[in-house]
Amino acid sequence: MVEQIMNSLVKWVLILFGLVSILLNIVLVGIYSGRVRRCSVQRVRVLKGVENVFQIKDMEFVNVSLPWMPDQHAMVPQLLEKQLQTEQEAALRYDTKTPRYLHIASKKTNRWGHQRSYKLQVFSFAGDHLPESQAEERSMSWARYKVAITKHKDSEQTSSSLYNQNDIWTPAVDFSKYIEDNESIEDQDLVAWVTTGFLHIPHAEDIPNTVTVGNGGGVILRPHNYFDEDPSISSTDSVYFNPGAEDSCENNRMACLAHETCSPTLETFTYHGFDGVMKFEDWK
Ligand SMILES: *[C@@H]1O[C@H](CO)[C@@H](O)[C@H](O)[C@H]1NC(C)=O
Ligand SMILES: *[C@@H]1O[C@H](CO)[C@@H](O)[C@H](O)[C@H]1NC(C)=O
Repeated sequence: MVEQIMNSLVKWVLILFGLVSILLNIVLVGIYSGRVRRCSVQRVRVLKGVENVFQIKDMEFVNVSLPWMPDQHAMVPQLLEKQLQTEQEAALRYDTKTPRYLHIASKKTNRWGHQRSYKLQVFSFAGDHLPESQAEERSMSWARYKVAITKHKDSEQTSSSLYNQNDIWTPAVDFSKYIEDNESIEDQDLVAWVTTGFLHIPHAEDIPNTVTVGNGGGVILRPHNYFDEDPSISSTDSVYFNPGAEDSCENNRMACLAHETCSPTLETFTYHGFDGVMKFEDWK
């Protein structure tokens, strides 16, 4: 996995996990800052090639006339693919519909002629952001966007700063300024900024300890046409089954569960339909 990340198309991917845990009382005070935890900022360096583009893909319904009855129309799903050109266009705001497929793609193609890319798969439940009319918002303007793609610059290393909290009205780092210049993001060294979060309203079951299952957000970098085939095919710890080896315990532990010391002894599974359970002949 580390190797896959290292191979990423993005030279610098700074991923901001704005893991926002907004406690109800803080919401009542009206300050969005809540508990904003930046879990991880990753920089991923690619070995070669920085000419990347940002593409979106989704499905949309289009109104087409039916070939066999041209005067009749139907809404038909169609694949939408688009390459975004500028930083402003690629700043996907929290309150807008976001395309489901987001790709950082290279001009290079894989063996099948598709652009090699990494897909950003974001899962987030961040909710509303502090209205921009509030002067304090500038210190957390990164949260305006679910995903923002910018051209890499040495002066744009972080989406926020520790010092923002000292003067939130004129913050040391105002992320929205990175996008304001609306630079081209075509054939550039691209940076993806991803905001993820969720709302945690304290409830009785948080005591004595808060269950973390299901509380989360994040982003997965998935190769998409980056390789020529599933790279796990060359994984060194693969297990190979040959026809006829299904019952052998050597590789398949499920085949010999009964031999495990702690497993219960179960009767062989049998099935006789609904015999003796339902009498269909009585249903008249
Ligand atoms: C599709 O286009 C036809 C012809 O323009 C129009 O009559 C019809 O209302 C459209 N259907 C939808 C769902 O927009
Ligand atoms: C950003 O640049 C593009 C291309 O030059 C332009 O079409 C677009 O209107 C600009 N957006 C803003 C908000 O200035």
